[in-house]
Amino acid sequence: MCGIVGYIGDKQAEDLLLTGLKRLEYRGYDSAGLAVVGNGGLRVEKKEGKVDDLRKALSNGSMEGTLGVGHTRWATHGAPNDVNAHPHVSSDGAFAVVHNGIIENHGVIKKKLKEKGYQFDSETDTEVLVHLIEEVKREANLSLPEAVQQALTQVVGAYGIAVVSREDPDLLIAARKGSPLILGVGDGEYFIGSDAAPLVEHTRKVVYLSDGEIVTVRRSGYQVRTIDDEPLDKEVHELEWSLGEIEKGGYDHFMLKEIMEQPDALEDAMRGRVRPAEGEIVLGGLHQVWDQLRDADRIIIAACGTSWHSGLVGEYLIETFSRIPVEVEYASEFRYRDPIIREDDVVLVLSQSGETADTLAAVRQAQSRGALCLGICNVVGSTIARETDAGVYLHAGPEIGVASTKAFTAQVAVLSMIALKLSKGRTLSDAERKEHIQALAEVPDKVRAVLRQSDDALESMAQVYRYASNFLYLGRGYNFPVALEGALKLKEISYIHAEGYPAAEMKHGPIALIDRFMPVVFLAMKDSTYDKVLSNIEEVAARDGSVIAITDEENGELDELCEYVLRIPQTKEFLSPLLTVIPLQLLSYHIAVMRGCHVDQPRNLAKSVTVE
Ligand code: F6R
Repeated sequence: MCGIVGYIGDKQAEDLLLTGLKRLEYRGYDSAGLAVVGNGGLRVEKKEGKVDDLRKALSNGSMEGTLGVGHTRWATHGAPNDVNAHPHVSSDGAFAVVHNGIIENHGVIKKKLKEKGYQFDSETDTEVLVHLIEEVKREANLSLPEAVQQALTQVVGAYGIAVVSREDPDLLIAARKGSPLILGVGDGEYFIGSDAAPLVEHTRKVVYLSDGEIVTVRRSGYQVRTIDDEPLDKEVHELEWSLGEIEKGGYDHFMLKEIMEQPDALEDAMRGRVRPAEGEIVLGGLHQVWDQLRDADRIIIAACGTSWHSGLVGEYLIETFSRIPVEVEYASEFRYRDPIIREDDVVLVLSQSGETADTLAAVRQAQSRGALCLGICNVVGSTIARETDAGVYLHAGPEIGVASTKAFTAQVAVLSMIALKLSKGRTLSDAERKEHIQALAEVPDKVRAVLRQSDDALESMAQVYRYASNFLYLGRGYNFPVALEGALKLKEISYIHAEGYPAAEMKHGPIALIDRFMPVVFLAMKDSTYDKVLSNIEEVAARDGSVIAITDEENGELDELCEYVLRIPQTKEFLSPLLTVIPLQLLSYHIAVMRGCHVDQPRNLAKSVTVE
């Protein structure tokens, strides 16, 4: 979703901000802009399209100045065009604002401001905020930081903002409520970012702003206060990300890099936690709350998108190994439907970014009902990671491609660890648990083998299927969520319509779609559901459907029935999603590339969905 970068220091801001905006591109956006303050006053340039279009627009004359803000906009109010792009500037041209989030009461405020004579050039809620700050400042004769603070108390909704003014070239203001912002602390220079990506090459020291906080930054230092003007002493954290991790490292796309990184990401997620020699799982982040989790009456998993799919795998895992009932909820539904949450329930949220607005609202909902709320996040220091009572980091490294890949497998690995730990004294003997933990530890090497064996085969399959208009993905048991995930991966990056179903549901409707133009991907591992899946394959083949099957390397019996059979190493049934999802990710990737799609930044999508 929209991205913010800000700089104050002694370097020229323009190039630094443009590079920062490039690093934020992965979040998804449709226009970009900059405001720089220097001797020439305040200069603003903004453009519909990509950061490179903005750079071209600037090539006629650079913006001199060592203070500035930049923005990538993902349209919410008003079409993506030059006028609606940020920054937005006050009527007198004195200050400029960039904003992420949505001002919900913008209509009421706009009406009042119009009555006072303010004119609006854009259709954005951000321009309303700019004029509100202006009016508050004028009316009470306030300084800019005071006016920003007072104006924000009148605003309902979510915001992450950064403000610069030609009247004070030594001042950068930023504030947040519901939309993440980080302050990067350098040596005599400071940075603002909506995430760490634009900061990592400049500093590793960061301050995470929390909701309702405002920071005023000068070259000599910074001060964080609450929106109610209480001074705060914020901790400075060390960033985990490195520059190499947020660059493509020789790959054509971040998505491919992240697919290929999965063996390492899984090893990182398991390091020190999965201990096959001792037959133990150690999860330090859950240590304090373990007894409560172990004794929970019910576990509710809430998440969105791909994280919701890994939550479904989690349901199968946790119910199988702990016999604790698990419910999996779309966070967006959970937050609005007055769910029954009891004190002995544990709510577990999954979020790669740790910033998804609906998932964060589920956390707050759970906590307000007195339930323990645990988070499984990838981004260290993210809002969900900070607001949950305890949790486990994925340690999968930055995920830049909009389509989630390594976060899914890392989430499933962490859920497997939790489930196996919960099995103690319940469903598995010590010897069985040790064997299962050993199998989990072997997964990264098996993923390496899948990647080695299947990439070329999937590339040639993609040649055949790239013109398809529809796809079906079918699986049972642990592989039903993988079918959903395979369909989501294909539709989001290749724009081919795809549906995932439990294989048995096919005959309750989707079978009507089957003809020779319908590719059907079956997850047909030789597990407890195999015979039933085989019958479903026969049903599709009998209707001329074009079957692609993912199965075990030893299995030769599908060749006659299927157009393509992709064989992957065997593993225990509960671990198979960690392997079966890999070919589906690669198939989507190759089809999208062949269709000329923008793989890392698919149309209309944002990496981190910080609006409801
Ligand atoms: C799909 C995808 C999205 C995210 C969803 C939740 O590839 O990336 O469906 O999974 O927006 O995001 P997080 O996990 O950051 O809460």
